[in-house]
Amino acid sequence: MTDRITIALAKGRILKETLPLLERAGIRPLDDLDTSRKLIFDTNRPDIQLVLIRSADVPTYVQYGAADMGIAGKDVLLEHGGEGLYEWLDLKIAPCRLMTAGFADRPLPSGRLKVATKYTGITRRYFLEQGRQVELIKLYGSMELAPIVGLSDLIVDLVDTGNTLKANGLAPLEFIMDISSRLIVNRASLKVKNRAIKEVIRRIESAIEPDATGDAA
Ligand code: PRP
Repeated sequence: MTDRITIALAKGRILKETLPLLERAGIRPLDDLDTSRKLIFDTNRPDIQLVLIRSADVPTYVQYGAADMGIAGKDVLLEHGGEGLYEWLDLKIAPCRLMTAGFADRPLPSGRLKVATKYTGITRRYFLEQGRQVELIKLYGSMELAPIVGLSDLIVDLVDTGNTLKANGLAPLEFIMDISSRLIVNRASLKVKNRAIKEVIRRIESAIEPDATGDAA
């Protein structure tokens, strides 16, 4: 009997690039994920189903084995910590940078900076490594608003085109790290459903396109 594999996908920006990748890997959802209100999707492969969830929840579903595999940004994987899962492949999709951002033309106040972000783990480590004292303010989205209304001096957020920052009068300041989406695998699933999981990994691996980040020589 063939093992059934559940793959957790992140809603939003990553999904636009995930679906063509899966298509190239021969995995096609039977419904339109962009318009459907469903959370579970059958695919052209009777042994593969997809679940569509918030990106920050993808590692959690895979950690507990509720999904055997998942596709999530390196940002959410670092925040999650990676317990119970393998980060298997860099899929080279949805590339962006994690940056600090603020007002380009305003000097930062001396003393303890206030930094608003949903990436509190990465941000704490980044400033700690530099020996800079910061007060972290946890937000869940729309971080760009925080400096404008005086909630924080800086934000830490993903920057792709930079348009969101620009539209809000902000600028990227310090580069923290490059981010892209990764294929993650539940540790127990890899043992129990080894053949089926390896087959899906091979297909997805062969569907990865050459580095689109411009880093490649
Ligand atoms: C990210 C990030 C910025 C935006 C940056 O949000 O939080 O708001 O993209 O992109 P840009 O530099 O091209 O303007 P995302 O769309 O991932 O969704 P989120 O608001 O749920 O984080």
